Amino acid sequence: MDRLVVPSAPQFEHHETGFGIGHASPRLSWTFTTPGVRIPNSWTQSAYELQIIRGSQYHEQTHHVPGEQAVLVPWPWEPLRSREIARVRVRCYGKEVAALNESATKWSEWSTVEAGLLHQDDWQAAFITSSQRVPDPTTSVSPIRFRKRFQLTPKSSPILRARLYITALGVYHAYLNGKRVGNHCMAPGWTAYDHRLNYQAFDVTDLIQDNEENALTVEVGPGWYASRLGFNGGKRCCYGSPDLAILAQLEVSAEDSEASWVLPSNDTWECLPSAIQSSEIYDGEVYDMRLENQTWSTANYDTQQSTPVATRVLPWPQAKLISPNAPPVRVVQELPPASILVSPSGKVILDFGQNLVGKLRIRSTVLPQDQQLTLTHAEVLEDGELCTRPLRTAKCRDIVLGSGEGLSNWTPAFTFHGFRYVQVDGWPGVQPSIDDFVALVMHTDMPRRGWFACSNSHINSLHSNIVWGMRGNFVSVPTDCPQRDERLGWTGDLQVFANSAAYLYNTTGMLFEWLQDLSAEHLEDHRRGIPPLVVPDVLQKAGGSLAQAVWGDAVVVVPDVLHLYSADTNIVRGQYDSMRVWLDFGIPRSPDGLWDPDRWQLGDWLDPTAPPDNPRDSRTDSVLVADAYLAHITATLAKMCEAIGETADATRYAADAQRLKSAFADKYISPQGNIMSNTQTAISLAICFSLYRDIDQKRTAAASLSRLIRRSNFALSTGFVGTKFITQALTITGQPPLAYRMLLSKKCPSWLYPLTQGATTIWERWDSIRPDGSVNTGEMTSFNHYALGSIANWLHTSVGGIAPLEPGWKALQWAETRFNGPYGVVKCRWEVNDGEFHMVVHIPPNTRALVILPVEQHIEVGDEDETGTWVGSGVHEFRLPSLTNKAFLLPHLIGRYRR
Ligand code: BGC
Repeated sequence: MDRLVVPSAPQFEHHETGFGIGHASPRLSWTFTTPGVRIPNSWTQSAYELQIIRGSQYHEQTHHVPGEQAVLVPWPWEPLRSREIARVRVRCYGKEVAALNESATKWSEWSTVEAGLLHQDDWQAAFITSSQRVPDPTTSVSPIRFRKRFQLTPKSSPILRARLYITALGVYHAYLNGKRVGNHCMAPGWTAYDHRLNYQAFDVTDLIQDNEENALTVEVGPGWYASRLGFNGGKRCCYGSPDLAILAQLEVSAEDSEASWVLPSNDTWECLPSAIQSSEIYDGEVYDMRLENQTWSTANYDTQQSTPVATRVLPWPQAKLISPNAPPVRVVQELPPASILVSPSGKVILDFGQNLVGKLRIRSTVLPQDQQLTLTHAEVLEDGELCTRPLRTAKCRDIVLGSGEGLSNWTPAFTFHGFRYVQVDGWPGVQPSIDDFVALVMHTDMPRRGWFACSNSHINSLHSNIVWGMRGNFVSVPTDCPQRDERLGWTGDLQVFANSAAYLYNTTGMLFEWLQDLSAEHLEDHRRGIPPLVVPDVLQKAGGSLAQAVWGDAVVVVPDVLHLYSADTNIVRGQYDSMRVWLDFGIPRSPDGLWDPDRWQLGDWLDPTAPPDNPRDSRTDSVLVADAYLAHITATLAKMCEAIGETADATRYAADAQRLKSAFADKYISPQGNIMSNTQTAISLAICFSLYRDIDQKRTAAASLSRLIRRSNFALSTGFVGTKFITQALTITGQPPLAYRMLLSKKCPSWLYPLTQGATTIWERWDSIRPDGSVNTGEMTSFNHYALGSIANWLHTSVGGIAPLEPGWKALQWAETRFNGPYGVVKCRWEVNDGEFHMVVHIPPNTRALVILPVEQHIEVGDEDETGTWVGSGVHEFRLPSLTNKAFLLPHLIGRYRR
């Protein structure tokens, strides 16, 4: 038996557990652990065997499949039925290169998969709302409560299992006999509600009381369904109705029978007003303790206090019910305040020392009758006071109205805020202490998968800010910012940040769901092939769409990134129509195939040279940016067509890409290689997208870029677009020292400048706080926007390339990255000691890596002509005895995902 490697228990699709999964034939993946001291050398899998036990009969079925595939292998058995439970395990055959015989590994642990409700007719439940109509849907819609009392029949059978399948129009918390069901926040999450609505499955076996009265209750707030959304005042009830509703189905199986006892939501349920008076995404929550009925969620509900009203059944919505692969939003961390400040005007302000997204929890206090406790959240202080101006119209304020009773572990239910500071007004008695509060950090609970560290603490802080920025903006959907009156799934922001994100966390489940919302909305007839600017689209629901490069190009770029990080061709296949429709019909073109130059473009948004009140007035021509991207995404789509075997389209798009590149060069690049818009962004894009005609033009480009950067004294002049590419362009033109000089600069605008102003997340503008300490007065002044954090991709992928190549500035001595990829953990660490370069790489079983070591400077820009050494699994060391004091290309570690 092969004892060197052991396969992990199989994972199902991109699902976090396999419980309640929405696939009848979920694909299976495993990685390998190496219990011994070393990773075996060049170990590859030659076959796998899968075993399944289904239902209650102990009947194993084994499938033997030759090959190396260990990621997303097909489900080889009959599809699962709704609710079916199965256990699956795997063992593999393989060998080290040096070994003669193949041998089988140990069996993995068993994994359990349980199908959710796979068909609409599995639902006996109906969507129900209150029979009392919402009086004025233009004002905030108040949360409501639903309840149903029940007894199990027949009473005596012991319970085998109980499942609650549930969703809401709004966001909900469910309780069974007073106990909270699950730990999801803001469930069912935000999707394109006209097309797709998530439901959740919970195991509630332990919450049911066998021979007694039970109560199933659900509280629903407006969430994204009915809160005000969008800037300039926004709009409430974007999905057309103010009726908050639930769909709930409790199924209980007794030990002596396979059949289930079902409790569906219907018009026999009751509805109650909530003590939460209002709860909105931007404005926060108002909780009135005086209206609370502590028994409302239990079977002993006291009807004296509030009289229930009837419920009304709503028509089944047109949206498809989905059991998502994305993990839910959860509270993932608790942070105590770092300090409590008293502002110059005497306000009490909590400082958490970290800009974060989530909400506050009050541990315990007694709030006198009618006293109002107000918690106002903000990201920054100005002149020592809470600075709420950047929040625009969002109130970001939670209020509790006292009843004279104790408030214990209170936190708002259906909102979240982006904040570092919280002003506390109306605290009862003496001033609060640090122990009275804790911040609950919330985001989509994606597994962390990539790490980076190096010997420069400022760069480590920058990286930490990028990670916090990502965490704060991956709350059900990937958003631009988490605090002001936006928090929308802007496509362009994700487009530039997607590969940084995919490295840091396993985003495949979440972003593939988001992409399905994107394509569902994009392919709506009235859009004429133009993707929404924000997904879910609450900005242009009614009207036409605005065709935008870079933003719309997320349609192609995001699937490509996810495919690269997951090896999942279903993502490409699933987005195929949307990608083609954008390129073939959506983009308004001029006769040369490039963009119609009369279209308004956001361009290199928030270029630091643009005036604060006109962020699109960039130095780089916005049509040039659009055209460069068009050539790039056409080539990217050709590559993806190849990956899914669509060879005719692959050839067509590859030829288009060539034509567009040449049209771009004709339009913008002089024979000598000077580009119109002689800017950092324009040159970087043309280098990274291989738009120069030949090596001489590339040499000119490299020299121009260098000149521009030196003249600006190493300051950045890139916005959302150029920031992602400038260091990459310098790297591939053999000028990494310039990239590091820019990276290490602390003058505004630079990556490290915000750190000098105390930043703990990535800002929307390079100077969201200006050098004089004042908060930028522009409309776009968020302190938590991930877009400019796209440098992370360069930090990750060009790991090890940071070198002291020019005298006089401080160098890094070591850097390390670790990435938990689909085939296991890849690690790389390098250090330079006394001029000796030493690199150690860890390659997991069943993969190979191309290792490219530092070489002397050369300028074969973007031609992928690097030569390296292929290595199989194992731990490999590389040494270079003495480095010259010249620029060199960075070492790379390129994981090859095998299929
Ligand atoms: C958002 C951006 C977005 C931009 C595009 C802003 O309001 O915050 O991040 O991409 O608008 O117009």
